[in-house]
Amino acid sequence: MIFRIKRLPGFFWKILRIIIQTTSGDILMNKKIVIIGAGPGGYAAAVRAAQSGAEVTIIENDTIGGTCLNRGCIPSKIMQTTAALLDKFQRAEEFGIDADSKARLNIQRLMERKSKIIQTQISGLHSTLQHHNIRYISGTGCIRHNGVVIATPQQSEASEIPYDKLILAVGSSPSEIPGFPFDGEHILSSNHALDLRELPESLLIIGGGVIGCEFAFIMSAFGVKVTIVEALSGILPLPSVDDDCSKVLLREMKKSKINVLVNRSADSYETKNGKIHVTLTPSVFAKNLSERDKKPVIIEVDKILVCVGRKPDIAGMGLENISVKTDEKGWVIADENMETHAENVYAIGDILGPAKIMLAHVASTEGIISAENAMGGSRVMNYQVVPNAIFTMPEVANAGLTETQAKAQGFDVCSGKVLFRTLGKAHVIGEIAGEAKIVSDAASGKILGVHIVGPHATDLIAEATLAIQMGCSVKELAQTIHAHPTLAEIMMEASFEAMGGARNLR
Ligand code: NAI
Repeated sequence: MIFRIKRLPGFFWKILRIIIQTTSGDILMNKKIVIIGAGPGGYAAAVRAAQSGAEVTIIENDTIGGTCLNRGCIPSKIMQTTAALLDKFQRAEEFGIDADSKARLNIQRLMERKSKIIQTQISGLHSTLQHHNIRYISGTGCIRHNGVVIATPQQSEASEIPYDKLILAVGSSPSEIPGFPFDGEHILSSNHALDLRELPESLLIIGGGVIGCEFAFIMSAFGVKVTIVEALSGILPLPSVDDDCSKVLLREMKKSKINVLVNRSADSYETKNGKIHVTLTPSVFAKNLSERDKKPVIIEVDKILVCVGRKPDIAGMGLENISVKTDEKGWVIADENMETHAENVYAIGDILGPAKIMLAHVASTEGIISAENAMGGSRVMNYQVVPNAIFTMPEVANAGLTETQAKAQGFDVCSGKVLFRTLGKAHVIGEIAGEAKIVSDAASGKILGVHIVGPHATDLIAEATLAIQMGCSVKELAQTIHAHPTLAEIMMEASFEAMGGARNLR
């Protein structure tokens, strides 16, 4: 093929070259693409690059599937599923079931189920790579210089892997805080908490962000006495989470007997007779504290789980051998095409840090875009409409802007809010806590954001994401027939509310 192309007259060759440069590389056979990291970002990039005709090598120093499959989304959702089931079992009588004995957790069986599900997914991913003729190297990848990566497999000699394009997808790991180094015994990271062999009687969770709140509900449902300490003034203090959702979740935490301490930081700890005594002091962010709140408190727990964010896993990768730039916190800098400062090098996923949204589905999208661009495309990553799914109990989910963000962008905002308790289906399933809010532009009715806290919020957000992506108005959503009785009706009802309750659809 290449031989024949070279023999074409100059004009045809010129045209063909333009086609090659603009067709995302379908004709560019044998371009060598190396990907370091086989999480949801890396394997999505590998498959897309292979589909486009590249010769793809993917290097992974742990297990295929990355944080999401092995130490994040999937294992935590397996635990959350059991926690929700246990919760329902404990309410068996309410559902008309006489349970003979009290339901309780068998953590060994739960861990076995977790391993089995992960193993099935791992096998599936390996089959997918094989199907696409992607070379998988189990080992550590390190950049030697422009165009060459060294792969060091666990059991054999290192080898040089040349690349035309390189995609960095090595992810992140849990951050520590001073004075609380992870030891897997007293001080746990989320990795340790997903692999527990026995439950502590009591647990202090440091950090009321996404991971801290998910674990608080899971552990509490398992019968652990949970305290959660957050340095800011509320839980889930993320810009994308609506204040009302955060307040509803705080109320539900209290109902679940989770002890929530805000405006406080964990300062230090000591162990006495097998128990941990933790000193909590007012946080540096706390404002207008009462005299009582200014005093340190000491709480006694069995274990501490630290969930204060994540750090990039870039040590030893050889980034210094090419000109990839990082910010002051070590997150890799990439542009909207996923290109780094180094020529022919792309970066995707968690290593880009919280500013680019550290979620598996964001990483996969970035992976596909980086692969298409590496093959000659020019796709741009859009972070405007990303669904956010938080698996607390009840769940929290959002897409688009909060009211505060929309106002800050100059919109005249019109919001509509509906409580789950107004839906028949919520009563049927016995989960009536929570609400859905639609934030819209008063002038056009265009949906700007949707914020849900309640049952199946993480599934319900799909409709909202599509509505925002398609530029849908509240009237269009309200006019869409929703099946009855379903939880999805809340989207229709919230749309009516955002129209000022206009059932005649003016
Ligand atoms: P995070 O950044 O969401 O929350 C950490 C919290 O810890 C913050 O609210 C912070 O104010 C607080 N904090 C920090 N230092 C503290 C201290 N010394 N004492 C008390 N509080 C302190 O980080 P998290 O929860 O570890 O999650 C990491 C990343 O993983 C996030 O970007 C998150 O979006 C992502 N993730 C998303 C999931 C989902 O969408 N379902 C699930 C798991 C992780």
